[in-house]
Amino acid sequence: MSDDKQILYSGMQATGSLTLGNYLGALKNWVKMHEEYDCYYGVMDLHSLTVRQDPVKFRQNAKKLYALYVAAGLDPEINCVYFQSHVSAHAELAWILDCFTYMGELSRMTQFKDKAQKHEDNVNAGLFTYPVLMASDILLYQAAVVPVGIDQKQHLEITRDIAERFNNLYGDVFTVPEPYFGENGAKVMSLADPSKKMSKSDENQNAAILLIDDRDTIIRKFKRAVTDSDAEVRYDPDTKPGISNLMEIYGSVTDKSSEEIEKEFQGKGYGDFKLAVGEAVADELTPLQQKYEELLADKTYIEECIKRNDEKARRAATKTLRKVRRKVGLTDLS
Ligand code: TRP
Repeated sequence: MSDDKQILYSGMQATGSLTLGNYLGALKNWVKMHEEYDCYYGVMDLHSLTVRQDPVKFRQNAKKLYALYVAAGLDPEINCVYFQSHVSAHAELAWILDCFTYMGELSRMTQFKDKAQKHEDNVNAGLFTYPVLMASDILLYQAAVVPVGIDQKQHLEITRDIAERFNNLYGDVFTVPEPYFGENGAKVMSLADPSKKMSKSDENQNAAILLIDDRDTIIRKFKRAVTDSDAEVRYDPDTKPGISNLMEIYGSVTDKSSEEIEKEFQGKGYGDFKLAVGEAVADELTPLQQKYEELLADKTYIEECIKRNDEKARRAATKTLRKVRRKVGLTDLS
């Protein structure tokens, strides 16, 4: 990595399996980012603790997420791919920044309000300060650019506010990051209800394509995708959200434009179109799945990458943390 590139930071929570939405909306784009940026990608396992986890499954899922990152093409030789919880500076900076964040601004976070409603029995303080931990992730690495989904926009804004507040008090300590929402914002919607985002936590088994679904499952789920009652493959998100979502997915894996897709399926029924989408997606995911199986069969490569990248992340993070400690007046570490 060269010094003149800006730093990019992103990550995903270590819960459940990834969906086609995570892949097309994020992961697939991350793979190319190193050409322009020095990239850090975390497995965000500390954030996952805001919701109760089964320890055995959680540990497995975190490792699987790492393997999926790599299988999707995120090269751990040129990107710093690591575990958030392996770098203790995240939690330390989060505490310090907690003291520079107001209850009022955290109460306004829509994600907090949503999650508090969903997990009524466990509205813990971590859920409330989640955005501060996220700000710490980003600010520790002096990231200039943060690719995220539009649902994280508010968290990026509070990160910027915290960074600016701190800088105003102590001088230029943090780079103030910009969100990066991607070119086409490939937002993949649920196959069962195209008004909702495709989500791994959806109860409906047919709503989401998982990256580890086999070919038959993928094709079956696309066959069952909810569409409309006319029979024309035409892009119109308002009146034809189901078909438009399938067109987005198909276009995203084949690089075809809406017009090309409309032409390709002119006079053909939805059955043919859905099958084509299913096959194209299965084809796209086959190499990823093969790589994933290989990585899990022999974990030495992954283990070695984790170790090296944890170390690298620790070095970068410690540099910022030391500066912050000094600025706020904590005594020197011996
Ligand atoms: N909150 C993010 C999400 O759910 C995950 C995340 C945690 C993150 N820390 C981050 C994303 C830092 C980007 C940068 O999608």
